[in-house]
Amino acid sequence: MSKIIKHINISVSLAKNLDAKLLLRIHNSAIKRGFFSSKKLIPYKDHILWFKKKLKSNSKIYVGKVSNKKKFGYVRFDEVSRNIFEVSIANLPSFYGKGLGSLLLQKSINKFKTNYKSKNITSIVKKKNTRSLKCFLKNAFVKVKFNKNKHVSLNKFDQKKEFYLEYKQRK
Ligand SMILES: CC(C)(COP(=O)(O)OP(=O)(O)OC[C@H]1O[C@@H](n2cnc3c(N)ncnc32)[C@H](O)[C@@H]1OP(=O)(O)O)[C@@H](O)C(=O)NCCC(=O)NCCS
Repeated sequence: MSKIIKHINISVSLAKNLDAKLLLRIHNSAIKRGFFSSKKLIPYKDHILWFKKKLKSNSKIYVGKVSNKKKFGYVRFDEVSRNIFEVSIANLPSFYGKGLGSLLLQKSINKFKTNYKSKNITSIVKKKNTRSLKCFLKNAFVKVKFNKNKHVSLNKFDQKKEFYLEYKQRK
């Protein structure tokens, strides 16, 4: 396991056009390592069209930066149904297992909730993805029963292999 970086300061900000390449690198790295349901790498030309559309949509993408200004990861909130946003997270592989994922998720949720207080947040996490699961559970997500009438998801939900999580805001 990589070393946890202690007392690190990170900042998060909304993704901009110039973050397109970084986000594709992060996303394709996770696909290659089997962390996402999709197995197909995304070509740049497809990504750039998708990304431009995303930035204009109701989705919110936050990019995390460590104090030396290096950008390392993203958290994306996609509106999957009225008032329900599905969240996904990924970092550059060189930053896996250093404690940054949990921090990035926490700061992104705080930012998102500041602007969209009444929105509900959900996530789908592979049961085998221990790091990801720990990040979510540590940040006030709880496992709930998947109800397709209540929770519309971008991804098809696989009950055997995945957990369905909901964010339960701390009072
Ligand atoms: C998921 C991801 C964002 C997590 O971020 P991270 O910075 O790697 O995770 P952290 O270092 O914050 O670790 C989270 C927890 O997992 C633990 N952990 C770290 N490496 C681990 C490993 N190899 N095995 C088991 N647990 C591990 C940490 O100790 C920590 O738990 P703790 O808070 O109880 O100490 C990152 O690993 C990633 O980008 N993965 C690829 C994309 C992905 O899987 N996204 C999630 C899709 S839902």
